[in-house]
Amino acid sequence: MTAMDDRTGTAPSPTGPLSTIDYSERIPNNVNLDGDRRLQRALEGWQPKFLDWWRTLGPSLPTKDVYLRTAIAVGRDGWAHFAHVPMEEYRWGIFLAERDPDRSIGFGQHRGEPVWQEVPGEHRADLLRLIVVQGDTEPASVEQQRVLGNTAPSIYDLRNLFQVNVEEGRHLWAMVYLLHAFFGREGREEAEQLLKRNSGDLDAPRILGAFNEETTDWLQFFMFTYFTDRDGKYQLGTLKESAFDPLARTCEFMLKEEAHHMFVGTTGVQRVVERTAQAMRDTGGAAGFEHGVIPLEVIQRYLNFQFSVSMDLFGSEQSTNAGNYYSSGLKGRWQETRRKDDHVLLGDTRTMRYVDGGEIREKEVPMLSALNLDLRDEYVADCANGVRRWNQALEDAGLEERLVLPHEGFNRRVGAYADHHVAPDGQVLTDDEWEARAEGWLPSAADRAAVAELMVPEYEYGRFAGWIAPPQAGINDQPVEFDYVHLAEEGLV
Ligand SMILES: [Fe+2]
Ligand SMILES: [Fe+2]
Repeated sequence: MTAMDDRTGTAPSPTGPLSTIDYSERIPNNVNLDGDRRLQRALEGWQPKFLDWWRTLGPSLPTKDVYLRTAIAVGRDGWAHFAHVPMEEYRWGIFLAERDPDRSIGFGQHRGEPVWQEVPGEHRADLLRLIVVQGDTEPASVEQQRVLGNTAPSIYDLRNLFQVNVEEGRHLWAMVYLLHAFFGREGREEAEQLLKRNSGDLDAPRILGAFNEETTDWLQFFMFTYFTDRDGKYQLGTLKESAFDPLARTCEFMLKEEAHHMFVGTTGVQRVVERTAQAMRDTGGAAGFEHGVIPLEVIQRYLNFQFSVSMDLFGSEQSTNAGNYYSSGLKGRWQETRRKDDHVLLGDTRTMRYVDGGEIREKEVPMLSALNLDLRDEYVADCANGVRRWNQALEDAGLEERLVLPHEGFNRRVGAYADHHVAPDGQVLTDDEWEARAEGWLPSAADRAAVAELMVPEYEYGRFAGWIAPPQAGINDQPVEFDYVHLAEEGLV
């Protein structure tokens, strides 16, 4: 998917026959929950805990209602409708992409065999782990973004934040359904834990590092939705290939929602860059906080940070687990079906970069051992699309300055670069050199404080904070100045 494909701000209205999402039930679903009373009761038991979590750790800004997209069908003819709804009444539900009765396993040792509708005993522990790790990221981002509404640069942006939040909540539902439906008591216990671990909690943090970082401001939010949600897209893309069919179908549908999250990131950063570029043109040189915009070098530092922590989410370049997941059919490659090889990969090799003697070198490694790297390379290529687009905004403004994606080894805590210091341009540095220069490459406390100072809320319809340009169009063909969010009336809060 290219950056252009991410521009799915709207979903077409349903035109064809709707599939069987039942909204008369307490938990909307297209998995015939009605037909399995035990499962239904278990999920209905989890539902109030989820709502408690949402009220305590979900968006903190009090609102009356929000113009939200809700999934109502999973078919190709459109799958969502838009309406103003009170957020806590959002219909979080369980939606799986349509089942393909002929689907067979596309890769690994079981290639060609029918996909699994149940969890095979020998893969139970691995599948449970994969689902828990994916599930853990979904509510984590809601927690990270909890207070952002208080400083929204516009009602349009506020609505997009809340849309992302409710959908991450739904993605949690998607994983909790799998845990409840296929993993018995252990699955139910894991589902409880998904609400008990919390982002940044010292005693019970979220599983992955990037999901314990604070989302300090809206620039960080846009970088997060651009770089970190995109990691999510790639992880979901590998699980969409899974031989475990319910997981594959769940992830396929989640990917549809995910596109909007990346749209928010791509266009969000772009609008920040546009505004800064405009100010630079006006001053005929640098433009900074004193001009009411975010300086380009601070945008670059935020980019460096979010890209590098998101790269860590792919794990070590070489991983026996990743190879085993592949061979046993649990997790495929990005766009597995389009790859022109035998989809088994035994005996295949590829190159990987590593640091040796102060230099970056290359070595041949077995392909099966380097599938995390394979996925990460796809991700990096995709990330570069957005950067190109942001640079177009600089070029359009007649400026020479450009944003760049840092080297893959920059600021890494995981994998082959973890014990080394690499500059954004790929130069390997000593500890002392790194200490002396890192501040210029990563956001400092002063950067964050100055950005935070710009973050004053703008809640008037159609108006935008000075540090960000308005979008080109509204959501779902509504005008930019549409009343996307009704804030709670004063006195009622
Ligand atoms: Fe998600
Ligand atoms: Fe997302």
